[in-house]
Amino acid sequence: MTVLDDLAGWQRGLRAQFPMIVDNPDVAYLDSAATSQKPQAVLDDVITYLTTGNANAARGTYPWANHTTARIEQARDRLRRFLRDPDPERSTVQFVSGATEGLRAVARDWLVPQLRDGDEILVPFADHNANTLPWVEAAALAGVAVRAIPYDTAHDYDHRRLTVGPRTRLIAATHVHHVYGGDMNVQRLRTLAPGVPICLDAAQSFGHIPIDLSTLDVDFVVFSGHKAMALPGTGAVWSRNARGPAYHPAGWIGSPNTSGIVSLAAAMRWLDEAGIDRIAEWNRALGVRLTEGLSKMPAYEILGCQRSLTADSLVQQRHGIVAFRHHAIGSNDLGFILAADGLLVRADDHCQGAQGEKTASVRVSVHVYNTPDEIDRLLEVLATLDH
Ligand code: ALA
Repeated sequence: MTVLDDLAGWQRGLRAQFPMIVDNPDVAYLDSAATSQKPQAVLDDVITYLTTGNANAARGTYPWANHTTARIEQARDRLRRFLRDPDPERSTVQFVSGATEGLRAVARDWLVPQLRDGDEILVPFADHNANTLPWVEAAALAGVAVRAIPYDTAHDYDHRRLTVGPRTRLIAATHVHHVYGGDMNVQRLRTLAPGVPICLDAAQSFGHIPIDLSTLDVDFVVFSGHKAMALPGTGAVWSRNARGPAYHPAGWIGSPNTSGIVSLAAAMRWLDEAGIDRIAEWNRALGVRLTEGLSKMPAYEILGCQRSLTADSLVQQRHGIVAFRHHAIGSNDLGFILAADGLLVRADDHCQGAQGEKTASVRVSVHVYNTPDEIDRLLEVLATLDH
């Protein structure tokens, strides 16, 4: 029995909970790294909140307002439990509109005020613009000579070329690469830089694989909710407050995205009930099925996600995201061809424009509602173009 056979009954029960998936049986939605579909339970919680408890938070003195304030605090607590936060009394949770806003807030509000002449920031190369540009901007905003030094996570899995020095103030890291799908080996970064704060972009790992902060020793976790079953415009910055100054979001805090935060709490409950370990196994197995099929077709090149270079390190795992190119057909054209067959993928440069890949590729990204049949359907269409 394979993982996909073992978990097939469990997965069928989950898939049936996604109206966008159930109502479109001819479509294979394979773009969950861009945004996930939403289970009925999350939609129901939002509707119930908006029709029975809607009010602003932290402002009114009447029951609806107090109830909304309490729900936001409960969502903070749920997030701490979801991330297995070992010291919840000490950590901070700031709700933001998504990973892009969250990473910018850490850079601007926490990092910039600390930077001194000669400091260094390590920034992942060939990564999403949301996790490269804020750090480069922070170096520029500091008003003193600060170097933002790129390091290569995508092709140096063991981080053997990482240049940590006495002036390294932060390592900006990525948990799962948004194009290559690879686990970026944050554990190894921590081993190489025990005292340096690490800010983790978890945009592609939150809600896809377990994030266990009792063993993963990073200082910030930043993510978007909409890729993890919640509504768009949601996300959070979790801060451990153990290395460097405590994190205090700057400025006036306006009205929160109350219904979005309700959806995020509902999404975490749904993911907990479904079982995040099994979700990760399922998505990995679908990715393996796709890469195995693709690697038999000479017309396609699979991008990134190398095997380990050294005997003592782990083989890099791909978490349900696979990017590839056809040797003759442009990726955008391939995206249109696949869409005509109901196979919805992303085909462009995947917001890697600032550094790294400047050429488009086709990216397939799955979540727990996807099936082996959908992957096989995709492979069949790709096989017709394998020449
Ligand atoms: N950051 C999202 C992606 O990689 C939008 O597709």
